Amino acid sequence: MLPSPAPSARDLGVIFSAAWQTDPMSDRRVLVNLRGLLTPDPAQTWAVDRIPEAALAIEDGRVAWIGRASDLPATWADAPRVDGGGAWATPGFVDPHTHLLFGGNRSGEFNRRLAGVSYQQLAAEGGGIRETVRATRAASVDELVASGEERLMAFHARGVVHLECKTGYGLELEAESRLTAAYAELKRRGWSLDVTLLPAHDLAPEFNGNAEANARAVAEDWLPELVRRHPGVARFCDVFVETGVFSADQGRRIFEAGKRLGLIPRVHADELTWTGGAELAAELGAASADHLMFCSEAGMKAMAVADATPVLLPGTTLFLGMRDWAPARKMIEVGCRVALATDFNPGSCPCLDPLTILRLGCLQLRMTFEESFTAMTLHAARSLRHSDLGHLHPGARAEVLLWDVEEMLELVYWVGEPFRPRFCPA
Ligand code: NIG
Ligand code: FE
Repeated sequence: MLPSPAPSARDLGVIFSAAWQTDPMSDRRVLVNLRGLLTPDPAQTWAVDRIPEAALAIEDGRVAWIGRASDLPATWADAPRVDGGGAWATPGFVDPHTHLLFGGNRSGEFNRRLAGVSYQQLAAEGGGIRETVRATRAASVDELVASGEERLMAFHARGVVHLECKTGYGLELEAESRLTAAYAELKRRGWSLDVTLLPAHDLAPEFNGNAEANARAVAEDWLPELVRRHPGVARFCDVFVETGVFSADQGRRIFEAGKRLGLIPRVHADELTWTGGAELAAELGAASADHLMFCSEAGMKAMAVADATPVLLPGTTLFLGMRDWAPARKMIEVGCRVALATDFNPGSCPCLDPLTILRLGCLQLRMTFEESFTAMTLHAARSLRHSDLGHLHPGARAEVLLWDVEEMLELVYWVGEPFRPRFCPA
């Protein structure tokens, strides 16, 4: 099904993970000549360390020490030096919500949406998401892998070192299976991904609006069969719980089936209307509930108690031209560890740029730069249950970005600038 031998991410010139660039046994070096280092503190919720004139020691692909260069312990005196060129060092971004793989694109509906045709209306006419489903069903695994790898390279060039990626544009078993196979191949090529099964992304046209029968097929047939065909590929499952799509009750049954298969729930929740998605995520022990523009106060409090991460997607609010931004400040106030993500997809947010999301986090969700940055690193990684990503404290994967700016705040301040990070060289 796939060209053999397939080119790997490394063959394509992508430096993806410091961990596999060198022989781990001999990998011991110190990153020096840094203007500073900025990292969330994984032991706290919103604290960010800002270390001027910093150094960072790496051993076996992991951070071994951080601090002021003048305090570097003597044990590192003989380790090879890597010149940071006077940059700021930060952890790489983690994107905890993308729909990476799909066929076609929906630029054709853009002007109609500007003229006032709503997202729901387009879908009801058989366009919108239906158009992407048709194009995705027509795509081969090879085609999905090729377009997926191009998108991953774009994400990577902008500093994203790990992503969550969903299936969901197949809406029937064989197409969902091809999407899962394409993700398996991308993982095999070395991309750092978590895969989420989302065959309940919308009502499949074959069910003619019968959400109940559709939910039953997903729970009883499609999810078990996808896991059987592609063992170990997916870690999470997701359902679009929304008025006119799947109810909270149908979502609950699909998630329970997913949990029996070892899949951890993430919920598309309260995006266009309130449907109790946040409450459902808390009840299920979900890793996250995502979107949440119409989340209730009870829902966010329940999520804080259950430690389910709200993953907010301000690029989607912007692109859909909505006025209701997710209540990030309120969520932080009630104790949620808010994360941010692109929601990269062809319909509601065709955006591969973490800096756009970082800026919207500040400018529209009213998060400080430090909060927005923490939401796109530490809390994004936590929502995917990775404790060694999203920060640069000892033990973290040495996924280090180097930014050529005087102050890190400039990344959001120069609002249209396409800053690109350098990567800590091998
Ligand atoms: O996250 N809400 C559902 N899914 C996507 C959009 C799907 C599409 O329009 O293609 C989202 O916004
Ligand atoms: Fe989404």
